[in-house]
Amino acid sequence: MGDKGAAEQSLGMGLLASQPQVEKGELQALQIPGVGSVAVLKGGKEFVGAHGSVKEGVWHDNEGIAHSVAIKTVKVAGSEKCLKTINKEIEILAKLPSHPNVVRVVGVRPGEEPVIVEEWMPMTLKDLLNETGPVLNSGDVVRITLDVAKGVCHLHKHRVTHHDIKPANILLDETCNAKLADFTCSVFQVSSLIDATRHGTLGYMAPECMQCGVSRSRPRVRAEKIDVYSLGKVMLSCVVGNLDNGKTITATSLCPTRLWSLICDCTKMDPEGRPSCQQVVERLESMVKDGLEGEVG
Ligand SMILES: Nc1ncnc2c1ncn2[C@@H]1O[C@H](COP(=O)(O)OP(=O)(O)OP(=O)(O)O)[C@@H](O)[C@H]1O
Ligand SMILES: [Mg+2]
Repeated sequence: MGDKGAAEQSLGMGLLASQPQVEKGELQALQIPGVGSVAVLKGGKEFVGAHGSVKEGVWHDNEGIAHSVAIKTVKVAGSEKCLKTINKEIEILAKLPSHPNVVRVVGVRPGEEPVIVEEWMPMTLKDLLNETGPVLNSGDVVRITLDVAKGVCHLHKHRVTHHDIKPANILLDETCNAKLADFTCSVFQVSSLIDATRHGTLGYMAPECMQCGVSRSRPRVRAEKIDVYSLGKVMLSCVVGNLDNGKTITATSLCPTRLWSLICDCTKMDPEGRPSCQQVVERLESMVKDGLEGEVG
């Protein structure tokens, strides 16, 4: 942990000028190698996920410019499982080159008190779906999911399978550009066959991953097809509403034919029948290029 007083000094001025509601004494500082001090805003937002706790914070770069950041630490201090999970996430993020559709990492601190510092993103796709009601217009669905698919392609190119693609793990900036986040379930395998494990979230998890919870033998699956399935479910959730808790959907109205056909292909029970992520990108790009006007489901 860093020296609180020093961090207050280095982070205080610009921050306090721009955020007068935050008292100096309310900043808690952390030292991140190669980055310096980041400060958690005690009055800021806080999210507690399955593995980590994410808090709003601020980081001043070398030029003294203040950046809003998200600070992820273990959910339960001293928990071996949380510690292992966040350190594995750090290992993956450290090896992954940056990409416009993957959340930008400012710095990481592996070890006994692991910390991940990322750019602060104002909302998740889940928040947007909760705010706008279940149905986004098809143009927005295609644009947002194309961003996500490009991010997933980048992961696959670098041999990473995300394994937990869902609206709560898709972050949106002010102009609704989408970025993938949360690599707590991710693995360094993609085109190879892997043992399906019960990672992911009900409602978005590929059926081959669910099977291993009930049968003794773990099915061998192509890792990238697990992400393609979840991507299809994310598209579906944009069309019909949140699928958290395994809600199933049959309605297809209001969804243009080509988009519906892509959703059906991505969510095929047989992983081999699903397209590759690159093919998903190409199909979404052709919808952007040609437009979806006149297509009805
Ligand atoms: N960079 C960020 N900017 C703003 N908010 C974020 C950021 N990263 C995460 N969050 C918020 O924190 C929540 C939990 O983060 P994250 O998904 O990384 O943790 P987790 O413990 O792996 O969660 P879970 O396993 O429940 O998905 C996200 O759903 C989102 O609301
Ligand atoms: Mg998450």
